[in-house]
Amino acid sequence: MGSVLAAIKKRRSVRDFGPRGVEVEKLDLILESARLAPSSSNSQTWHFIVVTWEETIRRLAEAVPFGPRAVNRWMKSAPLIIAACARPDPILHRMGQVVDKDYHRIDVAIAVEHMVLTATDLGLDSCIIGWFSRRKARRILKLPHSMEVVLLLVLGYRRDQHELPARQRRKLKDIVSFESYGTQEGEGAWGNPKTEKL
Ligand SMILES: Cc1cc2nc3c(=O)[nH]c(=O)nc-3n(C[C@H](O)[C@H](O)[C@H](O)COP(=O)(O)O)c2cc1C
Repeated sequence: MGSVLAAIKKRRSVRDFGPRGVEVEKLDLILESARLAPSSSNSQTWHFIVVTWEETIRRLAEAVPFGPRAVNRWMKSAPLIIAACARPDPILHRMGQVVDKDYHRIDVAIAVEHMVLTATDLGLDSCIIGWFSRRKARRILKLPHSMEVVLLLVLGYRRDQHELPARQRRKLKDIVSFESYGTQEGEGAWGNPKTEKL
């Protein structure tokens, strides 16, 4: 198995972190993996803010859009958060909206997953956070109005190394079709002449 696949299989969202900090060398590799991510027209209109100050982490943990603040309160246990931001390009990303695609957010999400898998590969734990108020996060991070926080990435080492519960995932046959939606005829699905068995 390749190391990317191994990291994909190993990764889980972790929501309880111990005090151990993230090593600078590992942080550099994680950020480098974001830098190398693909982006629409190679626009790279992203920016990553590394947050380690306890007070800022606390405020981000409480920056929920609405409802109980407790939802992501566990984030306070994390030693480090990377705020993955986008600066939408007025021309390129306006074109994306014409074809109903938020390219700048897609780009940042891909970069975040690069970081998640690199972190896993380096033995770190992580959790992607989408449930936060963009407005509040922008204010906390002093982001200019031309930019937005797309996702937060919590990084650290889990407090307890016990086994996590079994992963819940839908079956492949429930999420894959061939040639057109819903087509899964017999063996044809996996015996397509243009695909080969390993
Ligand atoms: C875009 C996105 C947003 C997410 N937002 C949150 C969040 O706000 N709080 C949280 O605890 N987990 C969040 N998660 C983690 C998911 O809940 C988690 O990935 C999912 O339950 C599957 O579990 P696993 O990551 O352990 O495989 C988010 C994940 C993604 C991809």
